[in-house]
Amino acid sequence: MNAEAEAVLRSEASAWAGRELAFVPMNAENLPLVAEVEKTAYSHPWNLRHFSDSVDSGYATQMLVMTPDPMQDPPTWAHAPTLPDGRWLLGYFVAMKGVDEVHLLNITTVPQHRRQGWAKLMLQALAAWSRLQGAHWLWLEVRASNVVARALYESIGFQQGGLRRAYYPDAGQQREDAVVMSWNLALQGHGGSHE
Ligand SMILES: CC(C)(COP(=O)(O)OP(=O)(O)OC[C@H]1O[C@@H](n2cnc3c(N)ncnc32)[C@H](O)[C@@H]1OP(=O)(O)O)[C@@H](O)C(=O)NCCC(=O)NCCS
Repeated sequence: MNAEAEAVLRSEASAWAGRELAFVPMNAENLPLVAEVEKTAYSHPWNLRHFSDSVDSGYATQMLVMTPDPMQDPPTWAHAPTLPDGRWLLGYFVAMKGVDEVHLLNITTVPQHRRQGWAKLMLQALAAWSRLQGAHWLWLEVRASNVVARALYESIGFQQGGLRRAYYPDAGQQREDAVVMSWNLALQGHGGSHE
């Protein structure tokens, strides 16, 4: 990630005194952990190949990690997904750069760490990175039924666009619509308040 994205991290780290936050690129060593978390987060998860293809294609493939503090962190987090170096995986995203836009393909927060602002932080860091790549838009598709993710995107400034009918596989032979959402990075300044 770039210097602007690192600045987003530093401002958040002050609210988590003593813990160090970092973005770590996905690679062959850490992808199995990502793929394990993915299975717990989606009805139709990506597999290891989806992630490794994304890395090989040069997409932005980043994990948000934190050095735990046993004196402060809830004991229930002791079993949270952990990298070989002892840092906790908080979440991850995959995004693909286009001509003047970035397409967010996957964003996930580890279940134990949800509702702590990590997805918002990842989106702000991605927006900072995207601006420096010259992108004017960040856009994505989201399942129509995924009210949690839609609330997240709206909270940060994404606007709803069109629908892609029957875009996602669903239970049995059913399909589910995707809602297209976009965030005008030029209009949104630095992505609103993180608090
Ligand atoms: C969607 C997801 C990434 C959100 O991650 P998160 O780290 O918990 O989100 P944040 O803590 O940054 O939440 C930011 C805002 O999103 C909204 N939000 C997040 N979780 C919510 C929930 N359970 N209910 C309602 N609003 C919610 C709120 O506006 C929240 O702000 P607030 O906490 O100040 O009210 C996470 O729930 C997840 O990984 N879900 C499964 C995978 C998924 O659906 N990914 C998106 C695919 S398009």
